[in-house]
Amino acid sequence: MRKFKNFDILDEKDKRLHNISEEVTFPLDPELKQTIYDVLDYLEATQDEETAEKYNLRPGMGLSLCQIGIFKRIFVVSEDYGDGTFGRYIVINPKIISNSEEKIYVGEGEGCLSINRPVEGIIPRYARCTFEAYDEDGNQYTIRVREDISIAFQHELDHLNGILITDRIDPKNPYKGKNTAREI
Ligand code: NI
Repeated sequence: MRKFKNFDILDEKDKRLHNISEEVTFPLDPELKQTIYDVLDYLEATQDEETAEKYNLRPGMGLSLCQIGIFKRIFVVSEDYGDGTFGRYIVINPKIISNSEEKIYVGEGEGCLSINRPVEGIIPRYARCTFEAYDEDGNQYTIRVREDISIAFQHELDHLNGILITDRIDPKNPYKGKNTAREI
C-alpha cells in the first residue's frame, strides 16, 4: 500500500480545462513544489493495483497541474517499471524542439484522468520527440522520449494548451491517420 494525498481532478465538463496555462517563473513556491511531489505519489498510488482498488482510483501515468486547478505550465509523468518502482518526470515550461516523422497511437485509445468514460478513436502522435523543459529547481534540461512516454508527454503538453483528447478526435472519423501510424 502506498501513502498518498488524494486529489480532486477536474472533469471534462469543467471549461477551465480549456484554459491555456501560464509560463512558470523560478524559484517555485515551496508549496507548489510539494504539490508536484504529491501528484507523483498520487499517480504511483493509482498504478498500484492494491491501492487503486482500495481507494477506487483510476490508473493514470500523467497529470498536468491544470487538472487540479493550477494553471501553470507544469506536468508530471510516472513511468511504471513493473517492479514496484517508478520513473518520475517533472516537466515545466516544456517545448518540443524536434520530433520523429513516424507517428504512433495507443490502440485501445488514450486514457485521461479528466475523462471518466470511454472515448472512441485514436490520436496519432510523434513516436519520438525531444523536449526542452525545466525541473522543479529551475534547471533547464533536454529529454528524448519515445513510445508510450512520448505519447504521455504530448498528451500532457496538450493539457497545458487547453486541449483534451476529445478535441483531437473527430467523431465522424475517429480512426483518422490509422493507416500512416503504428499501433502501440
Ligand atoms: Ni489527460
